[in-house]
Amino acid sequence: MAATLLARAGGAAARALTFGCLRQLHTVYQTVELPETHQMLCQTCRDFAGKELVPIAAQLDKEHRFPAEQVKKMGALGLMAMDVPEEYKGAGLDYLAYSIAVEEISRGCASTGVIMSVNNSLYLGPILKFGSEEQKHQWIAPFTSGDKIGCFALSEPGNGSDAGAASTVARLDGNEWVLNGTKAWITNAWDASAVVVFATTDKSQKHKGISTFLVPMPTPGLSLGKKEDKLGIRASSTANLIFEDCRIPKANLLGQQGMGFKIAMQTLDSGRIGIASQALGIAQGALDCAVDYAEKRLAFGSPISKLQAIQFKLADMALAVEGARLLTWRAAMLKDNGKPYTKEAAMAKLAASEAATAISHQAIQILGGMGYVTEMPAERHYRDARITEIYEGTSEIQRLVIAGQLLKEYRG
Ligand code: CAA
Repeated sequence: MAATLLARAGGAAARALTFGCLRQLHTVYQTVELPETHQMLCQTCRDFAGKELVPIAAQLDKEHRFPAEQVKKMGALGLMAMDVPEEYKGAGLDYLAYSIAVEEISRGCASTGVIMSVNNSLYLGPILKFGSEEQKHQWIAPFTSGDKIGCFALSEPGNGSDAGAASTVARLDGNEWVLNGTKAWITNAWDASAVVVFATTDKSQKHKGISTFLVPMPTPGLSLGKKEDKLGIRASSTANLIFEDCRIPKANLLGQQGMGFKIAMQTLDSGRIGIASQALGIAQGALDCAVDYAEKRLAFGSPISKLQAIQFKLADMALAVEGARLLTWRAAMLKDNGKPYTKEAAMAKLAASEAATAISHQAIQILGGMGYVTEMPAERHYRDARITEIYEGTSEIQRLVIAGQLLKEYRG
């Protein structure tokens, strides 16, 4: 699959040269020289997003429609399982490649970006890291092609930020686990064919009593709540998962019993790189839109891009997105090199999500009335940006994680 992705990438790079489109390879290549493979991948994803997502993103958003056909095409390109080794049918690439790809896909459609990110980081990630060989073959390979996607169920109606307070329970009954409880705000819920779910197997142990399970969807005893009507990322489905005496085989425990909280935290470290990348895509999309408009819109006899008031805004927007991108790439590269990256992933997500919110806000200001109507993508970027400061840990939680790690470093 890596070969497919890279062959397509090679073709795309050649086309870019042939048609003199190098101008389009702007920010990414001007900030840092990426390896050639990653540059080609970036162009492939940008071409894909431009052709397959940009033209339909507004409609998907309006209709709350899951982009099934596009997700299948992304699967064929290797984008739905980017760092999964080829033996499990993944693309066999690294997390830097994943970050670049999520950004480019999200620049076209942020809903598609989160669908991709959840499948890669939150569903496949923990199975790849903690699964047995048998589990990897059963639960990874069918989820690499875009035909099936997975989801991740940690939050509950009564606990989001306090992830260790899970009240969903799992009890062993002979050769089966029996799950009871409700999980909330689950991305991909309506479209998923499996879920990685966290439940308490020993309440007295608090966070050390949480375990992780693999549950096929649909399955008896598991029902879906209503599809949430959201502010943004409306083409991705979000719903509750309700477990009522849901029985799964004993073998569906992921990792050891009681390891669930660590599995969740480590999975979220990686997931935060994915959401940082999604936020970068939204921020870059909003900046693209603002620059394009500022160059075309005439006021007082010339394009508004000539006005210092607009130029100052554009400069601050570019600064925020490029700074956040460097933090995101750094976190991805630390992960790729087997180094600790908890703090850096939290910094990347915090910086990129706050940049996305600020940049999409300013993009609307530059577009004025045109920024407030659905004819232009600016208002969608503004709505899509907001969630990146909430899911996979709020901005407040990122600050707690950063401060916790920082103090540990100072204290030695
Ligand atoms: N890696 C490995 N271990 C970790 C860890 C990490 N990043 N973070 C914490 N731990 C370990 C600690 O070392 C500690 O281990 P011991 O018990 O062995 O000492 C244990 O976990 C407990 O750590 P804390 O005391 O720090 O835990 P806490 O209860 O204070 O919580 C928290 C810490 C950072 C607030 C955590 O609860 C958290 O991240 N909350 C946010 C949850 C979140 O991000 N939810 C997102 C839901 S998923 C989602 O949004 C998906 C989607 O739809 C897109």
